[in-house]
Amino acid sequence: MSETIPFIDLRSTHEDFIDDYFEELKDLFHACDFIGASSKRAAAFEEKFAKYIGVKHALGVNSGTDALLLALDALGVTRGDEVILPAFGFIATADVIVRLGARPVFVDVQPETFNMEPSAVEAAITPRTKAIIPVHLFGQTCDMGAIMAIAERHHLPVIEDVAQACGATDAEGRRAGAIGTFGAFSFYPTKNIGAAGDAGIITTNDDALAEKIRRFRDHGRTPVGTFECIGYNSRLDTIQAMYLAHKLTDLDDSLLDRIENAKLYDSLLAEVDHSFEVRYGERRPRIERPAVPDDLRHTFNLYTIKAPDRDRLKAYLAHRGIQSAIYYPTPLHTTPALEFLGFKEGQFPVAEDCARRCLSLPVWPGLKRQQIQRVVQAIREFLENNIFA
Ligand SMILES: Cc1ncc(COP(=O)(O)O)c(C=O)c1O
Repeated sequence: MSETIPFIDLRSTHEDFIDDYFEELKDLFHACDFIGASSKRAAAFEEKFAKYIGVKHALGVNSGTDALLLALDALGVTRGDEVILPAFGFIATADVIVRLGARPVFVDVQPETFNMEPSAVEAAITPRTKAIIPVHLFGQTCDMGAIMAIAERHHLPVIEDVAQACGATDAEGRRAGAIGTFGAFSFYPTKNIGAAGDAGIITTNDDALAEKIRRFRDHGRTPVGTFECIGYNSRLDTIQAMYLAHKLTDLDDSLLDRIENAKLYDSLLAEVDHSFEVRYGERRPRIERPAVPDDLRHTFNLYTIKAPDRDRLKAYLAHRGIQSAIYYPTPLHTTPALEFLGFKEGQFPVAEDCARRCLSLPVWPGLKRQQIQRVVQAIREFLENNIFA
């Protein structure tokens, strides 16, 4: 039996710098410069990150979830407000809205990109809408040209959820996180740039909002030590900032590896199955690969295909020693925790179809060519043995 192909190998993401990092930690433990809000080392990382994204401010926080929560709070989102977001994605994007007493308003996604459909965003706007959250799912930016035009027309702020897409660019060459009012990033270990634990960052070009976030993340503390608003404890630990500074240096190389891996999957999978079926009223390949418009950079945090009989394919891959993952088995509007919002099955058919069919294959930067060939060979066997229902 050949070796298991892991869904992700985190060790490979730090092996080039880990010895240097351990040396730097000795220094840190002498200096005891541990907490991000006052740490010079954390500030150095924030500056480097802001430069990379191309924004004026980058403010480290505890997690990607907090990045979204503090950004919404800084915009004044509160009880009775509505916030528009895609129906397909991770629950964090929705639960922060609920935490503030506001209402998540879901819209359907595009079948090709898994990202929110701009025309649906415009149709969902009401007088209570306070913000739009485009989620750059799986590493690919949303149609930000269209979404920003809608937001400007309706004078609405935009929080980009960049948790899965650090380093991605949109069709106009703009970095994700530099386009909207805020960018909210997660450094969860499996992300494009992952910490050694929980961490996140907020980006913005707005000086006043940056100052608000700076206070929010530190209990509302002002530079003279008084407390003028109710804030949070959401500071980036220096231990994480120093680790992330190394990851940021390596980020573009690691993204190129992800993109190369995705290209190899694309070319091999194109040869595996030539059959079609009708979905969304169109003739589509049975195994649907991620679609990437030529003019944007998909960073492939996840390489997600759509396949019929997905659960049995996943089981077959596991049987062949290949790990895969389902992001996400349930769309947000039918997730039990969000049922109270009153959305119904059938309301967002593309999101529901994605949840039924999506399967993410290993795509991490250190993955070998032969491993990708093994994954595709296993998919071919599955199809040729007619395991589909
Ligand atoms: C799209 C999306 N948004 C938000 C988050 C929340 O980030 P964190 O886990 O750092 O709180 C995640 C993390 O998985 C995510 O994938």
